[in-house]
Amino acid sequence: MIILYWSDVMCGIIGYIGKEDAVPIIVEGLKKLEYRGYDSSGLAVCGADGFSVVKQKGRLDALIARLTDCPVSANAGIGHTRWATHGEPSDANSHPHVGGQNRIAVVHNGIIENYKQIKERLARKGVVFHSQTDSEAIAQLAEYYYDGDLVRTVIKLLHRLEGSYALGILCADNPDILVAVKKDNPLIIGVSGHGHFIASDVPAVLKYTDRVYYMEDDEIAVLSSGGVQFFNTERERLHKTLETVSWSAASAEKDGYPHFMLKEIMEQPKVLKDTVSGTLGTGRNEQHGLDDIDIRGYHKIVIAACGSAYNAGLVAKYVFERLTRLSVETEIASEFRYKDAVIDDKTLVLLVSQSGETADTIAAMREAKRKGAYTLSVVNVVGSTLAKESDAGVFTAAGPEIAVATTKAFSAQLAVLYLLAIRFGVQIGRVAKDEEQMYLAAVRSLPDKIREVLKETDAIQKYASVCVGYKSVFFIGRNIDCAIAAEGSLKLKEISYIHSEAYAGGELKHGTISLIEEDTLVVTIATCERLYAKIVSNAEQVLSRGAKVLLIGNAPAGDYDGRLVRIRLPEICELFSPSLSVVVLQLFAYYIAANKGLDIDKPRNLAKSVTVE
Ligand code: F6R
Repeated sequence: MIILYWSDVMCGIIGYIGKEDAVPIIVEGLKKLEYRGYDSSGLAVCGADGFSVVKQKGRLDALIARLTDCPVSANAGIGHTRWATHGEPSDANSHPHVGGQNRIAVVHNGIIENYKQIKERLARKGVVFHSQTDSEAIAQLAEYYYDGDLVRTVIKLLHRLEGSYALGILCADNPDILVAVKKDNPLIIGVSGHGHFIASDVPAVLKYTDRVYYMEDDEIAVLSSGGVQFFNTERERLHKTLETVSWSAASAEKDGYPHFMLKEIMEQPKVLKDTVSGTLGTGRNEQHGLDDIDIRGYHKIVIAACGSAYNAGLVAKYVFERLTRLSVETEIASEFRYKDAVIDDKTLVLLVSQSGETADTIAAMREAKRKGAYTLSVVNVVGSTLAKESDAGVFTAAGPEIAVATTKAFSAQLAVLYLLAIRFGVQIGRVAKDEEQMYLAAVRSLPDKIREVLKETDAIQKYASVCVGYKSVFFIGRNIDCAIAAEGSLKLKEISYIHSEAYAGGELKHGTISLIEEDTLVVTIATCERLYAKIVSNAEQVLSRGAKVLLIGNAPAGDYDGRLVRIRLPEICELFSPSLSVVVLQLFAYYIAANKGLDIDKPRNLAKSVTVE
């Protein structure tokens, strides 16, 4: 995908048409979508007198303040929260964008690849542009095409647009309808007793309804107060199934916690319980039963993902290899897509993603399919692109994850990957019946054991409060602990802005140990009993150079005059111990960031769903 300057690729869209005032509904929806972008926001409402547009650079609070100063209201409106990948956010670049005659207003999430050509063509016809965005080209072109029939105009528009988009479109001449369309970006339609919604994500409408349509590419939705109709680009009527979402409105609220991240960490016992029972076919996702895939047809497993999901893949590699003896490669999706991977129709490619919309992971899936591999996705968002396009999917039951830094979705991914590994081990004949039961019992015990770990919250908070001054933190482990160290390091750096790196314990002496000095912190994860002596020896090497150590796990070690502090973990089969150690790592990162007073749920420069490469 080409990255365009000034494009709005990771944004949130909300729209409403119905009997109620659209403004509070849109503002409420934008609050739920702020995780998708927060450098500017805006809304347009459409009444009998035409559009009122309010846009504001900065956080949503700035828009709310402007709306308090100049209130607007109407029964139809569209809103947008923006996250520009490049270039400065500004009022002019904020959405909605309106055509020159003030007839058509558009909110856009995505990237219009041929916007320059569109702009040049329209400019030659005298159209004046007011922003540097690709999105304004959509509004201006729609207005240029407009012939009194909004649906016909949108169809014409779609034939001209190249790139990806989710669009909400209002027309001042037709205040009774709101038109929505999508291509390669998510969009749902919500249905309630008092009106209809469009949104980038389900949490934006959960307060009002749990009944949604998931839009497919190139479908056109025409919403009115009384109903919603779907058309294809030939203007033929489509009949879609209304689905009921199992997420509750409360799951998208903070519930008294200071941050969503802390709430989501605390939710992990329930998330693990739901995910395990769902995946094993005794809960909601039984249609995605693990026996749909028979690993015996494959000689290799590749796991492709980004960020934390990639770290889940690093852990899974150990588990899959131990239980199946198949060769497993964990690949960064952005590298996998371009490396001409050695895969074929005997390769199972696992795509792991919370959002199911990560551009690189989607591209990795498409590349794997192109080469004939079987693709299996582990995703949290039903109806997402990955879920729809992969050959098979297993859903994680994490519910909506609002904090940008993933916690509960990561834990749910681990659980699904463990269960897949156990299942595959049984299919291949490497895991005997009694071992299967033992492993399943261990996975089922995770919610209780995580509850035990959460009892250490105060101790972790206390320790974190004396760690805020560190400039650099190292995370070490051996074997599967080394894989989860990568997640601990990522969590810390992304929310606390403290530099950190993860290393295999045995690798330290090959270079990194030269960075260890007085008062460096080395978080040491030690859950593999057979490697206790080795990892403790690594901890001693750094202690003897003046470092401090936070030891996570039960390996025997002294306290080195108070320089080694330990958080114990409940006993569990070593293969699944990352699910326990990661909770300590999450809390540790969280409390350091909290002590520094940082904006934990929305760390700088990061967006929740990375829909651009
Ligand atoms: C880190 C984090 C990111 C995501 C990554 C992939 O806390 O959340 O590293 O894991 O952007 O996102 P998904 O899982 O949506 O594909």
